[in-house]
Amino acid sequence: MDIPDHYVNRFHCCDCFEELRKLPDECVDLVLTDPPYGIDYQSNRRVARPKLPKFENDGRLDWLAEWVDQMYRVLKPDRHFYCFTRFDTYPEFYREISRRFQIKNCLIWRKNNHGSGDLNGAYAPQYEMIVFAVKGKRALNGTRESDVLPCDNVPSAQRRHATQKPKELLRQLIEKSTEPDEIVLDPFAGTGSTGLACMHKELPHSDRQERRYVLFEINPEFVEHGRVGGLGRQEALIEIPKCERKLPPKQRTALRTNRVRARKDETLPLAFS
Ligand SMILES: C[S@@+](CC[C@H](N)C(=O)[O-])C[C@H]1O[C@@H](n2cnc3c(N)ncnc32)[C@H](O)[C@@H]1O
Repeated sequence: MDIPDHYVNRFHCCDCFEELRKLPDECVDLVLTDPPYGIDYQSNRRVARPKLPKFENDGRLDWLAEWVDQMYRVLKPDRHFYCFTRFDTYPEFYREISRRFQIKNCLIWRKNNHGSGDLNGAYAPQYEMIVFAVKGKRALNGTRESDVLPCDNVPSAQRRHATQKPKELLRQLIEKSTEPDEIVLDPFAGTGSTGLACMHKELPHSDRQERRYVLFEINPEFVEHGRVGGLGRQEALIEIPKCERKLPPKQRTALRTNRVRARKDETLPLAFS
């Protein structure tokens, strides 16, 4: 079924568990998402600036089974599903996703830098895992690639979210698994990196084709960062229902000032302070 127009190419500030139930069956062409990790994550990396905010639903995984069922329901037949995860919650993600989908690979995103973690007692983490699965049967586009994907991380000075993903990596996955104009769903969109990856003008190669996107994110602060950091240039298409009103007055003023600066300077995306 077709997805209603008001979802498409918009960054919705909402609870995805509620919003997904409203989507019709078989209405999107790809799910590409980076869910809460289930480990109550907060990066220790930054020292010069305040820590980036913790995010919702990160201390538990009781939502996982129903969420996978919803992913399966809204995805069209013969389509792909990519889900970021970590080594310590991989078993839960594998178990639930394989109940519905056929898991084809565990992809490894190899970063140019490493995270902090336990500085003396553990190896420095330099990769993330992505469960790659299919509903039905579908070939990957282009030439055969390795299951290890090297890609530079978002520089920490430009990061607006503790687990922000590089749009170049997301774009690579999108291009392997969709055709131009198909619809990509990210229900845990954070700062909207998946939306940026769908827009060819954000990328160096002008021959790249746009995909459409549907983004859900519960935290208005992250939605605002996405809007200011690139998606904001399509302001008319973006909905942030009432969420600004929930922010404390000081933060609200800062966000508005930043947004005006971003509009004046097109070179600002994701490099905002
Ligand atoms: C791992 S982060 C995604 C970061 C994103 N990939 C980026 O590049 O910015 C997961 C996101 O899911 C959001 N989230 C958690 N529960 C949610 C819910 N019920 N509905 C929508 N978003 C939710 C969190 O606020 C967080 O921003």
